[in-house]
Amino acid sequence: MSAINKQSEPIVEVVDLCKSFGSKKILDSVNFKVFKNEILLIIGCSGTGKSTLLKLICGLEDADSGKVILKTDHIGMVFQGAALFDSMTVFENVAFPLINNEKRPSNDQLKDKVLEKLRLVGLAGIENLRPDELSGGMKKRVSFARAVINNPEVILYDEPTSGLDPIVSTIIVDYILKLQKELNASSILVTHNLDLVQKVSSRIILLYNAKIAWEGTSHELLTTSNPFAKQFREGATQGPMAIIKE
Ligand SMILES: Nc1ncnc2c1ncn2[C@@H]1O[C@H](COP(=O)(O)OP(=O)(O)OP(=O)(O)O)[C@@H](O)[C@H]1O
Ligand SMILES: [Mg+2]
Repeated sequence: MSAINKQSEPIVEVVDLCKSFGSKKILDSVNFKVFKNEILLIIGCSGTGKSTLLKLICGLEDADSGKVILKTDHIGMVFQGAALFDSMTVFENVAFPLINNEKRPSNDQLKDKVLEKLRLVGLAGIENLRPDELSGGMKKRVSFARAVINNPEVILYDEPTSGLDPIVSTIIVDYILKLQKELNASSILVTHNLDLVQKVSSRIILLYNAKIAWEGTSHELLTTSNPFAKQFREGATQGPMAIIKE
């Protein structure tokens, strides 16, 4: 963790968070903080509870015990797989959080806000298209525009580069960094993508078996001999992390 982050206030605090589905413990007393203006990366094998953790943070799931302390009400979520509404235009998708809001802006304000956010993700002029007319990378960027329509102070990204080629993934990472800077936001980013981990260069937590198995930086992930981090880095089938069978 950098000295700057240590001095700043946490904007998200996850405290002793526990969550089970049936008899299966997904998160067992997980603790971490996210500081203002930082990106925290969450890595871990499939089925370790990364998406569940993001849903607990944004209130889509309830914890069994423990808590999430949010120092802001403004939080945006980029769902795994973009999760756009196929029957709606890009405009309607991006406008969705504002339309279904008590403080719905006027139509002119709504248009300004949607077009501003589409410009921010490099997609000016596509507002009348439907999701099935877009590439995977464009869909992801539309989902970014929707997530930031309310100028969130915290942005949650669930595997924003999954299913994209390496070049489009680089473009997506550039937009994540741009949104971070332009909106002055903090982000929590779930990923399997080691290239993304290096490009974002941030603090990381590795989830395994309902716990944080390792914490470090992008740089440390490359060099550490910690067996969990090393196994993840090398994609090894042998190591302390058993392959999870769904
Ligand atoms: N609503 C739910 N009801 C029951 N089980 C669930 C629910 N949501 C998630 N799970 C289970 O919890 C575990 C963790 O799921 P989660 O989606 O959080 O994993 P993940 O780390 O995001 O995986 P992936 O990398 O594949 O996206 C899985 O075993 C999953 O089947
Ligand atoms: Mg997931």
